[in-house]
Amino acid sequence: MMFKRFWERLKTNYLRGSPLHRVGRTKTLVSAIVCLSFLLFIAFTYHFLNSSPVHRIANPPEPAITCRMNNLQKSMFTPKDHTSKERLHIGARVLVFVESQYSKAAKQITSSLQYARIDYKLENTGHNLPTLTHSDKGRFAVIIFESLEAYVNMDNWNRQLLDKYCQDYKVGMIIFVHSADEYGIEKEKVPGLPLILRYNVAVKDYRLNAFTDIWRITKPGETVLDNIEEDDWVVFEYNHSTYEPLSYAKLAPPPYLNSRYIPDNSTVVCALLDRGTLDGIQRIFFGNDLSFWVHQMIFIDGISYLSHGKLSFDLERYILVDVDDIFVGITGTRMTAEDVEAMAKTQERLQKEVSNFHFNLGFSGWFYQHGTSLENAGDQKILEYRNKFWWFGHMWRHEQGHKFDQAKLETSMIKNYQFAKEHDIPVMHQYAVAPHHSGVYPVHEPLYQAWKNVWDIRVTSTEEYPRLYPSWKRRGFIHKRVMVLPRQTCGLFTKTLYIDTYPGGRKKLDDSIQGGELFKTFLYNPINIYMTHMGNYANDRLALYTFESVIKFVKCWTNLKLKQVTPLEMGIKYFEMYPEDKEPVWQDPCVYKRHLQIWSANKSCDRLPKFLVVGPQKTGTTALYKFLQIHPAILANYNSPETFEEVQFFNGNNYHKGIDWYMEFFPVPGNATSDFLFEKSANYFDGELVPYRVHSLLPKIKIICILIDPAKRAYSWYQHMQAHGDHIAGNYTFHEIITAPDSAPRKVRELRNRSLIPGIYVQHLQKWLEFFPSRQIFIIDGGRLKSNPVAVMHNVQRFLHIEPHYDYNDYLRFDSKKGFFCQVSSTNKSDCLGRSKGRHYPPMNETSVEFLKQFYRKNNVALSKLLSKHKYRIPDWLEKELSD
Ligand code: A3P
Repeated sequence: MMFKRFWERLKTNYLRGSPLHRVGRTKTLVSAIVCLSFLLFIAFTYHFLNSSPVHRIANPPEPAITCRMNNLQKSMFTPKDHTSKERLHIGARVLVFVESQYSKAAKQITSSLQYARIDYKLENTGHNLPTLTHSDKGRFAVIIFESLEAYVNMDNWNRQLLDKYCQDYKVGMIIFVHSADEYGIEKEKVPGLPLILRYNVAVKDYRLNAFTDIWRITKPGETVLDNIEEDDWVVFEYNHSTYEPLSYAKLAPPPYLNSRYIPDNSTVVCALLDRGTLDGIQRIFFGNDLSFWVHQMIFIDGISYLSHGKLSFDLERYILVDVDDIFVGITGTRMTAEDVEAMAKTQERLQKEVSNFHFNLGFSGWFYQHGTSLENAGDQKILEYRNKFWWFGHMWRHEQGHKFDQAKLETSMIKNYQFAKEHDIPVMHQYAVAPHHSGVYPVHEPLYQAWKNVWDIRVTSTEEYPRLYPSWKRRGFIHKRVMVLPRQTCGLFTKTLYIDTYPGGRKKLDDSIQGGELFKTFLYNPINIYMTHMGNYANDRLALYTFESVIKFVKCWTNLKLKQVTPLEMGIKYFEMYPEDKEPVWQDPCVYKRHLQIWSANKSCDRLPKFLVVGPQKTGTTALYKFLQIHPAILANYNSPETFEEVQFFNGNNYHKGIDWYMEFFPVPGNATSDFLFEKSANYFDGELVPYRVHSLLPKIKIICILIDPAKRAYSWYQHMQAHGDHIAGNYTFHEIITAPDSAPRKVRELRNRSLIPGIYVQHLQKWLEFFPSRQIFIIDGGRLKSNPVAVMHNVQRFLHIEPHYDYNDYLRFDSKKGFFCQVSSTNKSDCLGRSKGRHYPPMNETSVEFLKQFYRKNNVALSKLLSKHKYRIPDWLEKELSD
């Protein structure tokens, strides 16, 4: 509007008067326009640079945690060491009795155990007891009952057995007590114990009994001041010296006051230890479930105490706070010099609580000096203070790794590297984080290679392995010598900048700090890498607030020792603690949306097989492989130069090469719905980890295996090895091999095992059936494959639901010279398998036949049972074997 009016006025004034006058006026007008443009430019620039952060109403909250006890008082409560020799007689496992595994209490118990990485067995109370001992050792270190009813209502026989087990092996129980459902019942005596339960009470001012031997991680002395909002607490009354209170509280007015309520401020007992002086069994009773955060601490200390230290946690907690996106933030939300000062000061304070504490800054150099003048001064201040902090390379322009090839990634990294050199940034720790977790998992191989080439990266972290949620199941793994550590979120993201607009309100953040999700990461994880962003240190500086608060809170309530070590040391520690995590488990990147978002658009999950022929070796797998390929809708893998046609991905070291490597073996199918990619690797069948790995990557895949008489399979393998000039097979008879004792030379034992073990079909099949439903597994009778492959191929097609349905009569024909069915070639010739398939060799001698009959008998019986249970047809050879 303003411009319009100005223009109108200019037009009328300018056009009025003589042309001569107009020349003079033109000059004035031009200079006016130049001046105006200049002023406008200045105004816009100023506005752009300085006025966009109008929303910047920094209102940093102050950490409001104060411990009731001072340092001197705290030092009186030293953590207890629960280790005693009793722990030598029990296993590191917990037995959990539940009434239903889906109940809230049961889920809380199992997720806490999972969080603590404590191995457990879940049992439904109505069932028989599991075996409690194994060669004179107790299998379980602690018994947990989801509810007291589950314990007292146990059938007498089981209860006696369990009590006796606990007495003999000094194994304790944890029992959760819940309020009676019917509101009429106020008090009840526990049958068989001098203990009275008072139901449905509300409590406040919860505190711990400092004078008990249980506290290890938990530090007594503080009080939860608020009312604890529920009125479903059970409190304990007793009159026997075996009981020792673990926690007290004051009675609180119930949240829904009724007219009959009489104020009562008396102290009650909320968690109780039975020291076992009465019946020889130690028990911990909880008057509520694990929703109450203090109970989580008592729970893990209780497990440590009752297991005599067998299931004790270390007190050390290694933490690293990453600050991603340094220089990257949107203008108006970036750090100013003041913010940098605040960060450095907080770091100094935190160094008193966490030994060697340094914020770990991840920078993207391209964004340096891309903010307002205030923010640019902030950037400069960060560099001025560079030696106060730790640093890692992020990406030059914050690129997502999965979108680029190795050359482009390296170029970007090199620029960031040069930026670090130019500004003398101390990047020292062989650690990097990928923006958006991109390329770390699902693995983008070029990223790992570029990291190695440019920065020599050895450690990284992600929240995406195996998945973001549940957070307590995040794990680490090692790929291409890079240790990938699990990463924790702390409730702060790129967009959480102000306390007033914190999603869910400030209370949500405070709850997470004070006993909630963030506190629990400290409680349960020995190693924590937290993810924060630059914006969390500007604006309301929520990261400073959060970490200062949570660390204070942890110090008030726990004996945990907080430390920082280099990422490399952290990685080494993590995999020392959890060596089982070293090997990654690959999953289909297209199944989980978050994974798909950070997976290259050039890759396709259609390049994964729809079915597998898994073996075992020497059962006719090559014949089946060949016959399958006759079908136009079936596409086999490309041949591997190392293992002939077989890819052998899931069973050996190839698995570590990752799924990009695996996918390279498959063509991109013309039609992903109707084309069937497959591969055959005959030693998948008996590979220990194979069913698990296959299921993780391809849960819907179909599996085909072939079973022949295992004795014949063993003999065929021996012949195969002899034909390949194997030294051992050449120097030992078949009988010597299969009867070789464990004292035989290693190579002999190896040949013995490869001959015999794959034939213990029942064991291997059971493993597959643990992971796949029987409808996904097809079992071919290997004898039939030899004698009637046409019928077998008919059934295979039906199992795969493949179209068009081929009549293999047109494609297979018996070749009397070969003695087997062969493919009919386009010129109507027999295209048989090579000389190494369908060999001629003398029949097995009788003593070996007899030995193998005995050797496999028990397993074959079990196999027929397993097959019947899953409604499979019993192979002819097995019928015959069992009827002999
Ligand atoms: P032998 O050579 O001991 O007779 P695999 O391919 O799994 O290694 O199995 C090889 C076995 O497949 C051969 O073992 C042979 O008995 C069997 N086989 C089944 N059908 C066949 C066919 N049509 N042609 C060749 N061998 C076949």
